[in-house]
Amino acid sequence: MKRIFLSSPHMSGNEQKYIQEAFDLNWVAPLGNNVDQFEKDLAAYNNMAGASVLTSGTAAIHIALRLLGVSDGDKVICSSLTFIASANPILYQGAEPVFIDSEPDTWNMSPQALERAFQDAEAEGELPKTVIIVNLYGQSAKIDELKEICDRYEVPIIEDAAESLGSEYKGKKSGSFGKFGIYSFNGNKIITTSGGGALVSNDIEALNKSRFLATQARDQAIHYQHSELGYNYRMSNIVAGIGRAQLEVLDERVERRREVFQNYFEALKDQPGFDFMPEMEGTESNRWLTALTIDPEEAGITNMDIIHALGEENIEARPVWKPLHLQPLFEGSKYYSHKEGYSYSDGLFNYGLCLPSGSNMTEEQQNKVIHTIKKLL
Ligand SMILES: Cc1ncc(COP(=O)(O)O)c(C=O)c1O
Repeated sequence: MKRIFLSSPHMSGNEQKYIQEAFDLNWVAPLGNNVDQFEKDLAAYNNMAGASVLTSGTAAIHIALRLLGVSDGDKVICSSLTFIASANPILYQGAEPVFIDSEPDTWNMSPQALERAFQDAEAEGELPKTVIIVNLYGQSAKIDELKEICDRYEVPIIEDAAESLGSEYKGKKSGSFGKFGIYSFNGNKIITTSGGGALVSNDIEALNKSRFLATQARDQAIHYQHSELGYNYRMSNIVAGIGRAQLEVLDERVERRREVFQNYFEALKDQPGFDFMPEMEGTESNRWLTALTIDPEEAGITNMDIIHALGEENIEARPVWKPLHLQPLFEGSKYYSHKEGYSYSDGLFNYGLCLPSGSNMTEEQQNKVIHTIKKLL
């Protein structure tokens, strides 16, 4: 029985054309036309001034922190309900994360909790250097409310749109709201380059600096001279070729993932205790993963029962991300819950479920997932 994955790569067929171009020109080494063109295409798609394509989304967050001058002992605010990669670069820079809970309308950063975090930071006399806002599973956070707070305190935003490429918030592309936006092209994302990421911004100078930092911060000199600490983070010309072809089909992929979500929704919405991740008015999620919560008392089963039952049928399903304030790595970090004494993301973690959502999943495969869940009920 072929395994049904949570989200597997879905090639368009055009990838080989761009890879071949790189081979024909012998630009298989880093940089070349695919890198330049992928950066242009990505910026144009998101209506941004430019993009710097890198080896991963994590690298993009790391570079964004460097560009904002985050260093030893600085505070960085970050969404709690996310993959660890959103926050690891804070530690790379020797800075201190402060985690913010989710709120019910988007499952993303709670503006109320962010406000309290800023009030405390101001009272302590040390504002955070930046705020990393994550758009979980494709759903945009409450950008207007969060941006109003950050603007008031004059603290720049990094929008972690690793999971929300192709999503929209009030008609604008996800990832285009902060000083920097980041995307991931990891193998499980809505489009993939086999591994890669990007930094987008309207600040062209900052993007040039990103390219500089990502190429070992090599000064302009014929000999190898370095005045700053750099990284080996630039995307290769082969990898960027895959990205060019994948970007051409991004809108189709969004459409298909939304269809997958809708099929699950129609099949399971009336089950007691089943609650699907909301889509806030004015936003359009790419529905990277179909996520829902299962209330065990109402449903009579738990999220883990479903995950195990699907596992037995060789189907991959997962709980929702474990919030970062609950991770042993971040033990002792500051955390602001949505309401005082009430953490919303803990419940999402305890009850949450992500179903296979690949754009290449067949109708038959999706029916098998639905049937396995219904059989359990
Ligand atoms: C929310 C989020 N941020 C950051 C990343 C990091 O991206 P990458 O795996 O390309 O480093 C991912 C995915 O992996 C992610 O889901």
